[in-house]
Amino acid sequence: MRDTGAVADRPILLLLSGPNLNLLGTREPSVYGTATLEDHVSTARTAAAAHGLNLEHFQSNTEGALVEAVQAARGRCAAIVVNAGALTHYSWALHDALAAFEGVKVELHLSNTQAREPWRHQSVIAPVVHGSVQGFGGHGYVLAVEGAAHALAARQ
Ligand code: DQA
Repeated sequence: MRDTGAVADRPILLLLSGPNLNLLGTREPSVYGTATLEDHVSTARTAAAAHGLNLEHFQSNTEGALVEAVQAARGRCAAIVVNAGALTHYSWALHDALAAFEGVKVELHLSNTQAREPWRHQSVIAPVVHGSVQGFGGHGYVLAVEGAAHALAARQ
């Protein structure tokens, strides 16, 4: 089994990655950079550990699988950081699943979606998250984890 650096009994931060993010590294590098998803997960895991959180990651190209991952996080995970890819812009099913998750939720994008095509300007998940991080490339994974940790601390 891969060593994830997880420490027993720490709160879990679930990092969710949506469609096509498995292609990072080779997918439109001028927009998304050359780091792979694995690189970003490693960055997020280090940031989570620094805040006393264990990180779990799940990537899927399928809407239903992501909805099920959010449902399975209920009562088990303290926070979700989600880069939903294109589902961000139209998945009301993901909106509803996130609305039903009681923990902290942070929306994340590598690119600045507001500076891109008009259809990317709407996020249907934005109304049900605590906050959003976008436009900072891979550093956004650090910022999103920090935002989630900050919101969790504010709840205690
Ligand atoms: C993205 C932005 C989305 O519009 C796009 O569909 C993606 C990636 C980002 O990280 O910048 O797949 O979520």
